[in-house]
Amino acid sequence: MGVTVNGRTKTLGVIGNPVEHTLSPVIHNELARVYNHNVVYLPYLVDGSVGDAIRGAYALHFGGLNVTVPHKTEVLQYVVEVDEFAKRIGAVNTLVPAEGGFKAYNTDIPGLYRGMLSDGVNMDGEDVMILGAGGAARSVAMLALDKGAKQVYILNRTVSKAEEIAKEINAYAGREFVTAMALTGYPKLSGKKYLCIQATSVGLYPKVEDVVIEDSEFYDMIHTGYDIIYNPYETRFMSLVKAHGGRAFNGLKMLLYQGIIAYELWNDISVSEEVAQQILGKMKEALGL
Ligand code: ATR
Repeated sequence: MGVTVNGRTKTLGVIGNPVEHTLSPVIHNELARVYNHNVVYLPYLVDGSVGDAIRGAYALHFGGLNVTVPHKTEVLQYVVEVDEFAKRIGAVNTLVPAEGGFKAYNTDIPGLYRGMLSDGVNMDGEDVMILGAGGAARSVAMLALDKGAKQVYILNRTVSKAEEIAKEINAYAGREFVTAMALTGYPKLSGKKYLCIQATSVGLYPKVEDVVIEDSEFYDMIHTGYDIIYNPYETRFMSLVKAHGGRAFNGLKMLLYQGIIAYELWNDISVSEEVAQQILGKMKEALGL
């Protein structure tokens, strides 16, 4: 590690349960090394009071904190301010020290978007399909609205969950922007090519053969597929998109850029694309890729 720990070293870290598999220390300690910042980033298991952990970190003058599963919503009660975009998403992952406590941000979703841009994919004017209707899917639908997508179709096993998201986002948008559907509903959408975001945990290691939709006709409709999963590096969803002539990307860049955006907030810098690629290399090394 590049940093010489001394009396001026600032502490950064991530709280979660579990935390032992996090790649965040790799991202942040490498950024600290590149920029010669006197900070260290450590994982903290929080399996008791989240409020105590947050208050403790603030009292200890932490330079910033990431928050991961399962604390991303609960933590909202213990901060002094919430960024506007994060409020709409309803989950936060980054805390920045402010007057009297932390201000909370969501960098996961801006991270996904920055990853897309770095792959040359934009949401502007796109017809978007989202698989799943959990927190991640809801956030992606909100991002699509923010970034000028033409329309969004949420396909989910439990249609009522997709309908709830559609209702909420359409009320916010003031128009029929999101349409909810069953997983079998996609034939109605044929005739166009879509940007499709796989926002479920289906296909995650060790169940690498699982995929939400198998049908070949579905994959013919996708020009670009994003999976929020990065383990395995190529999911079955991605393989199917590619086999049908589309481009496919995994969730590793989302993870990279959520970290980079957090680091930028904490240290008031902008990280170049060149450095981002360097950090991505370190992450792949850590994953044994
Ligand atoms: P998160 O909040 O992290 O996004 P979640 O709330 O657990 O995750 O949501 C997981 C999503 O994956 C849900 O949309 C779920 O579908 P249901 O709403 O029908 O439960 C979807 N999902 C999980 N396992 C699935 C499977 N085997 N087939 C299809 N969809 C699945």
